[in-house]
Amino acid sequence: MKRLLIFILPILIIVAIGFTVFGIMQVRFTEEKLMEDLQRKAKSVAEGIDFSAKAILINNDLKSANRLVESFQKRERLQGCIIYDKEGKILAITERFSDWKEKDKPYLKDILATKVARGALENFKDYSVYSYIIPVIDDENNILGMVEVIYDTSYVFTTMTDLWRRLSISLISLLVLIVLIMLLIQRQIFTLPVVRLTEWFQHFQRGEIEEVHPIKGQDELGKLASEVEQVALSLRVARKVVSEKATERMQKDELWTEAKLRDLIHARLGENALFVVSNREPYLHIIDDITGAPKCVRPASGVVTAIDPVMCACGGTWIAHGSGNADRKFVNSKDKLGVPPGDNRYILKRVWLSKEEEEGYYYGFSNEGLWPLCHMTHTRPVFRETDWQMYTKVNQKFADSVLAELPSKNPFVFIQDYHFTLLAKMIKEKRPDTTIALFWHIPWPNPEVFSTCPYQEQILEGMLACDLIGFHVQSHCNNFLETANRLLESRVDTEKFSIVRFGKETFVRAFPISVNGHFKQAASSPDLLKEIERIKKEYELEGKIVAIGVDRIDYTKGLVERILAVDRFIEKNPQYKNKFVFIQLAAPSRTHIKHYHDLMNEIDELVEKKNWKYSEGEWRPIIYLKRHFSQEEIKPYYALADICIVSSLHDGMNLVAKEYVASKADLKGALILSRFTGAARELTDSVLINPYSIEEFADAIKLAVEMPPEESRKRMENMRKIISENNIYRWAGNIITELTALRKA
Ligand code: G6P
Repeated sequence: MKRLLIFILPILIIVAIGFTVFGIMQVRFTEEKLMEDLQRKAKSVAEGIDFSAKAILINNDLKSANRLVESFQKRERLQGCIIYDKEGKILAITERFSDWKEKDKPYLKDILATKVARGALENFKDYSVYSYIIPVIDDENNILGMVEVIYDTSYVFTTMTDLWRRLSISLISLLVLIVLIMLLIQRQIFTLPVVRLTEWFQHFQRGEIEEVHPIKGQDELGKLASEVEQVALSLRVARKVVSEKATERMQKDELWTEAKLRDLIHARLGENALFVVSNREPYLHIIDDITGAPKCVRPASGVVTAIDPVMCACGGTWIAHGSGNADRKFVNSKDKLGVPPGDNRYILKRVWLSKEEEEGYYYGFSNEGLWPLCHMTHTRPVFRETDWQMYTKVNQKFADSVLAELPSKNPFVFIQDYHFTLLAKMIKEKRPDTTIALFWHIPWPNPEVFSTCPYQEQILEGMLACDLIGFHVQSHCNNFLETANRLLESRVDTEKFSIVRFGKETFVRAFPISVNGHFKQAASSPDLLKEIERIKKEYELEGKIVAIGVDRIDYTKGLVERILAVDRFIEKNPQYKNKFVFIQLAAPSRTHIKHYHDLMNEIDELVEKKNWKYSEGEWRPIIYLKRHFSQEEIKPYYALADICIVSSLHDGMNLVAKEYVASKADLKGALILSRFTGAARELTDSVLINPYSIEEFADAIKLAVEMPPEESRKRMENMRKIISENNIYRWAGNIITELTALRKA
């Protein structure tokens, strides 16, 4: 629009100036012509009555004088006539100009003296008139009197005003016409071809590759269209080749690697990209508190840890809430950016939420309602109607954002977690051809617990719009099948592990999530060794047994129980004073929720109290580091830790346990793991605990501390084998395989 204005505005200005100059000249000319006419008329009328006036003045015939002047009263235009005697006194005057008597007329004397006629414009009271006076002279050249003819000139001004009005209307019409013509021309020669080209490109993006580009001309735009077509063609060919090669390799390879997953995606999805939706974004941009400059961070989230390597392997688009305070600075006009920063393996599309939306949907319904509902930690869920409304609204917002991206044929959408139970239904309403999977990263409760949720029916209905629902472990799948069976009109097929409702079938499967081999790399890189040394020095860890915990500060993680168990361990085994240190890396999380806020304070106080209890010299049994740690920063802690403690009271999987095992390439280390995590089903060689039993927990720490190296090596080896086989690529590969098998016709 701005560009169009720059183009049209000068033309409009030139036309307007030209037209105004022409108008002024036209008006002047007309005005002069009218005045000339008036003068001519006044003169001829005055001269026409000269003869009658002479007779009247010679005979001093007042009656005829009055008759003569009254004949002007009837004329259509405002005219008048005045007859003067030779002294300049009025003998007779047309009635409509009777006020004229009062006008001071110094020029009369001159006319009587010089006997020369006078014509002039005169103003008097409301009149603007043209007055023409001729002297009346007898045959001996003696002055008898004068005759004055006056014309009202106001019609000249009315005519002029009228002319101006007509000229202005013509000018405006002309300008409007020019604008319309310009718009039409610009639409025809520029906008329409570009729109058609854009539409064609969008079709191509959506996978409708048969369309031929619509711009045929050999002009600049035509050349651009041909270039775009060439790029599109190369892309199409490249995709096809990749897809065929991928299918070949798929049949050969056995091990699940990043490359194998990429091949699977290319072979199964072909031209279709994968769309992932989650609340938490994998990369967020925030303003650094210290430097004031924006920086990119990876949030502490199991979803991010698991899905990011998958997306890096297979590309596609990840749609998530843009929650960083500098996020808007890094997106393009479509709210997208390439990530990981500097590597650009896939597209992140950020969805913006208002404070009210975040409050109701994220803090409220998702984390004060569904989160405690699904975790057995004896924390009461809170269900507010206003939160539910916001949750529904935000699900719709995400659905719209996803729908705007979907290709035209058979798209695949992979939804993450409890924030989006309604999303699949909303997408399917508009695009029933979409194949949708939902992965539930947290536990699913039993039907009695779930039935306390006032919105149980809408949630289940929303979820059953999916084609596939994944949980970490079979018991969560069983809980879900039972919940649907009991609370919703549906049929559960226990053979196929599916739920059928109104003819729509949803498959329910266990896919234990995992980690990639990322932590295996560079296990002894010089930078890592340097960082380990620095940490050891800073916290005086040399020669000590180090246990580590890495968590978000969440009441499900059993952090309080962990500190109590460390305390009890030292109480029961005082020989480990000065010899044992527990480091907790704790990322503040969901701090606007009171429960989380109170928990932070409780842990602060507890750590302080327990450290005080054992304060002897420099040694503190607990090092509590409360801040966000990046994956890079966590690595040296995993490397130096002899023990890792995961004591969740309830956890879908817990990837910290798997990350720790994956990072221990030297097989030195022991894992203490809560029985109430999904990971406990696979990592049976860990030291399993009930975190609610502080005695058992403390004894487990002792067991881990004193475990013979041979045994711990063996256990670690077994656990690493399980993780390297059941890695994240296998997890994603299994889901994609199931999902593509369900592909819509
Ligand atoms: C759990 C959830 C994730 C979530 C993560 C971090 O792992 O399953 O969906 O991203 O906690 O919580 P946050 O609220 O910070 O995203």
